[in-house]
Amino acid sequence: MVESRPAPEGVDPFTPNVARIFDYMLGGKDNYEVDRMVAQRMLEVAPDTRLTAWFCRQFLIKLTEIAGEAGIRQYIDLGAGIPTTPAVHEIARKKDASARVAFVDYDPVVYAHANAILAGETGVTPILADIRHIDDLITRLRTDAQIDFAQPVAIMIIGVLHYLMDDEHPAEIIARLREVMAPGSYLGFSHASVDTNQAFVKTVDEVTTGGIAEVRYRTVAETTALFDGFDLLAPGIVPLQQWLDNELPATGLVLLGGLCRKP
Ligand SMILES: C[S@@+](CC[C@H](N)C(=O)[O-])C[C@H]1O[C@@H](n2cnc3c(N)ncnc32)[C@H](O)[C@@H]1O
Repeated sequence: MVESRPAPEGVDPFTPNVARIFDYMLGGKDNYEVDRMVAQRMLEVAPDTRLTAWFCRQFLIKLTEIAGEAGIRQYIDLGAGIPTTPAVHEIARKKDASARVAFVDYDPVVYAHANAILAGETGVTPILADIRHIDDLITRLRTDAQIDFAQPVAIMIIGVLHYLMDDEHPAEIIARLREVMAPGSYLGFSHASVDTNQAFVKTVDEVTTGGIAEVRYRTVAETTALFDGFDLLAPGIVPLQQWLDNELPATGLVLLGGLCRKP
């Protein structure tokens, strides 16, 4: 029996949820029996998925540190998920205590948890918004989180873009962000690869028919095409392990990572 935090108001603990499944993979307490059942099915076919989730967080930390070293003081975590320590504001504020951070997610479950966990953090703003409505989101970032796009920003989109199907036009969404970002801004991302273990793909397909987000696995070429107009930084679009430490083991769920800079 795993201990959970009580569900915030408005959260349905009986329908599985991507953010809470991810929270479980990371060893968090903001998940329920229904989420753990789906997570266990994934772990049966790819027992190292917990490790992949941990790589994701390590990659996010690394990107935030790189941006901080480059003098960035505004951070936008898109598809941020349930707040996990260390979160972007905790890393960014080691470099500059006044760093401004927006945590964006379209899931009311995440928003409820983010409000409960981040309440009272000045300059840290949870926003309930959908990346697919990008112009609305950009407006909210300006008005609700006081993001000044005339100054460089760091945008992180970790473990999210593979939930956007081709007909939802991910490249156009990224291009719109690129247009408003000041030169010298950073955009870091991870994305599920077509090299992922096929048993894992099949299991996720089965559980996603129940209404949990469908995944579009992409090749390196397809992923690269999403970031047209940016400079891609070394080592390029490669499995997360290559960003972190080449000695790390390969995993069943292969996540590609990349970091771009607006010229
Ligand atoms: C696998 S979790 C990753 C969480 C976090 N980025 C991390 O790496 O720890 C994916 C998150 O993206 C969010 N998400 C998916 N599609 C989205 C969209 N169109 N707009 C905003 N958030 C989205 C989900 O709600 C979920 O919280």
